[in-house]
Amino acid sequence: MIKVVHTIDEVRKQVKEWRQEGASVGLVPTMGYLHEGHQSLIKRSVEDNDKTVVSVFVNPMQFGPAEDLDSYPRDLNADTKLCEATGADLIFNPEPEEMYKEGFCSFVDMNGPTAELCGKSRPIHFRGVCTVVSKLFNIVTPDRAYFGQKDAQQLSVIKRMVTDLNVPVEIVGCPIVRENDGLAKSSRNTYLNEEERKAALILSKTIFMAQKLVEEGMKDANELISVMKKNIESEPLAKIDYVQVVDFDSITVKDTIGANTLIAMAVYIGKTRLIDNFIVSGN
Ligand code: PAJ
Repeated sequence: MIKVVHTIDEVRKQVKEWRQEGASVGLVPTMGYLHEGHQSLIKRSVEDNDKTVVSVFVNPMQFGPAEDLDSYPRDLNADTKLCEATGADLIFNPEPEEMYKEGFCSFVDMNGPTAELCGKSRPIHFRGVCTVVSKLFNIVTPDRAYFGQKDAQQLSVIKRMVTDLNVPVEIVGCPIVRENDGLAKSSRNTYLNEEERKAALILSKTIFMAQKLVEEGMKDANELISVMKKNIESEPLAKIDYVQVVDFDSITVKDTIGANTLIAMAVYIGKTRLIDNFIVSGN
C-alpha cells in the first residue's frame, strides 16, 4: 500500500528506515495532476530503485504574479491511484506552509542557463524551481531523481545546479510522452477547449517538421527558426512566445545546429502557454 505523507519529518523517518534496510531511493518531483508523462518517470524510478518517492507540490515560488497558480489543476486521489498502480512507495504532499515556514528567505538561483527560453518570459520561475528541488533533494536525499525532457530547460538547469553545488544525486532525463496525435502531455492541456485542443497540434506538428528538416541536413538555426515561426503563425489561435535554438547543456544561443542542440518553443493557444522541443542527437 502506498503511503501519503504531508510533513518533512514523516518523509525523513520513512527514508531513514529504508536506508537502514539498505534500500536505494528514487525521487520524482511533480506538481500533481499526474498523466502518462509523469508516470513514465515513476516507472523508470521504480525500475532503477528499491523505493520511489513522488512529491506532489504546486510550488507557489515558481509562479509569476500573473500566472496560473490558483487555477493549476489538482487531484490527489487520482494521483495516489496512479502512483500506487505504477509501484511508487511514498507520496510527499506538503502544504506551502510546510515547505516555506515563517521567515523563509533563502534561495537557490542561477545565472546563464536561465537567461534564455522560458527564463526570459518567466523571470522568477527557475529560482523557484531550483529552490524547491534543492529542498526536495535535502528532504528525501534520493540516489536518483527523474525529470522529463518535456521541460528541457528545467532538466538542463537542474543538472547544472547538481554539478555546481555538488549535490550527491544522479539526474535521469526521460523522453517526452505524447498524446496519440502528437501533442506533448501536460497538466495544462486541461485548460484547452475543443477548438484550442485542435489548434494546439501546431506545436508538435512544427517540432516534427523541424526535426525532419534537421535530419535532412538543415544547419542554419535562423533559417530553421523562421520556417518554424511561419508554420506556427499559420494557426490563428497560436501566439508565439519564443522559438529558439540553443545548446542543451549551456542554454546559450546557437547559430549552427549540431549534436546536443535544443530546439525549443513556447506558444500561447488562447490563454494557455504550452511548450515543446526536441534535442538533436548524434555527433
Ligand atoms: P510538473 O510540470 O508536474 O512535471 C513534473 C515532471 O514531469 C517534470 O520533470 C516534467 O518534465 C515531467 N513531465 C511532464 N510532462 C511530461 C511529458 N509529456 N513527458 C515526459 N515528462 C513529462 O516540472 C514540474 O512539475 C515542476 O517544475 C517541479 C520540477 C516539480 C518543481 O516544482
